Amino acid sequence: MTQDKRLVKEGSARSFGRVASRMSPEAQKQLETRIEPFLFDPKNLPKAERITLEIGMGNGMLLFERAKANPDQLFLGIEVYKNGLRSLVSKCEKEGVTNLKISNQDAREILEDLPTGIIDQVCLLYPDPWPKRRQHKRRIVNQDFLKAVYRVLKEDGEYFMATDIPSYLHHMIAHVHTFDLFEAPAVKPQDWGTPPKWWISTKYEKKAYKEGRFPWYLTFHKREITS
Ligand SMILES: C[S@@+](CC[C@H](N)C(=O)[O-])C[C@H]1O[C@@H](n2cnc3c(N)ncnc32)[C@H](O)[C@@H]1O
Repeated sequence: MTQDKRLVKEGSARSFGRVASRMSPEAQKQLETRIEPFLFDPKNLPKAERITLEIGMGNGMLLFERAKANPDQLFLGIEVYKNGLRSLVSKCEKEGVTNLKISNQDAREILEDLPTGIIDQVCLLYPDPWPKRRQHKRRIVNQDFLKAVYRVLKEDGEYFMATDIPSYLHHMIAHVHTFDLFEAPAVKPQDWGTPPKWWISTKYEKKAYKEGRFPWYLTFHKREITS
């Protein structure tokens, strides 16, 4: 793909903050070696009947539990922040979980390298809120991102988002509305406050509750295109 068609172009705003903290170059190197068996190549994925992709998985504990409970499915987790990946790799090693694969790169680049129509579910859980108006350009949800998510999803694929930030909720809904190729199966407003069956509270969600914020859960399906 040519540079000007990529989601992340030279000088593009980053959608994330830190990529590592309090980790010496040596510790980072060690992590890279341990992570190696868990890395996935978006252009050459292992075969699986069902594939779930989580973008910005943080410490990856929700994805870990889902992978452990569904050993015949494949779970792909992307996270640029290295620190959280240490405990995830340790847990996978200790509990012999091999159906969870990791990428430590920008999710927008990985999305573009994935084949078309192969993912059953894409999850974006508590994306960095970037609350100030001048930071909004950093929000990962935009039209190009939705287009990339739409492309990788299977025809009956699902796009799931969670946020605790009212202005991000509005941002998500406005973008999905403009994009127009997803539809929401939610039937009453309360449904947006109810987590899906597979849900386990993430680290960020627990923090949100502690600080008095509440989550919204948004499920979308690909809309059938009728001509
Ligand atoms: C607010 S945290 C939420 C983490 C986790 N989903 C949770 O609920 O605990 C958002 C995470 O998304 C990651 N992130 C943001 N943009 C990303 C990108 N383009 N590619 C990969 N990870 C990204 C950040 O590094 C951060 O860890």
